Amino acid sequence: MNQKAIIDMISYYKNEHWAAHTLKVFGYAQGIAAGEDITGKEKEIIEYAALFHDVGIPAGIAECGSSAGPIQERLGAPIAMEMAGKYVDDEAMLERIGYLVGHHHSFQIKGERDLQVLFEADWLVNLVEGNNLDRAQETYDKIFVTETGKKFMRELLLNK
Ligand SMILES: [Fe+2]
Repeated sequence: MNQKAIIDMISYYKNEHWAAHTLKVFGYAQGIAAGEDITGKEKEIIEYAALFHDVGIPAGIAECGSSAGPIQERLGAPIAMEMAGKYVDDEAMLERIGYLVGHHHSFQIKGERDLQVLFEADWLVNLVEGNNLDRAQETYDKIFVTETGKKFMRELLLNK
């Protein structure tokens, strides 16, 4: 990926909390992708999707007065595609980036590896930021699939 997209993300939010949240999710997503031996276009799709996964939050607040999951998914997907489109000219990749951002709270979807990496990276951060560590074991059991994401959960949040 083009690392300058990180600068675009920070300038889009102009907000330390959202930028810091994103950088954590982005880092975990890269770590999980590496651990799962994900390379090439799939890796790049995950990176851009992680970097722009929450861009629908400011839009949701501005347009709908809400950052609820379905709103930010719907509004975020086209914004993420436009932002990634500055660096990605492969239409299928852009569509997939938009799809991941547009479904990153749709936890009922199973078996899509790139989306799964994004779910897991976001949960690793949201459990801590939302002060929900009492739900870490349940989340581990219900949501986590990849060996690397599960390892991060065990080592960071479950202390085993
Ligand atoms: Fe997030």
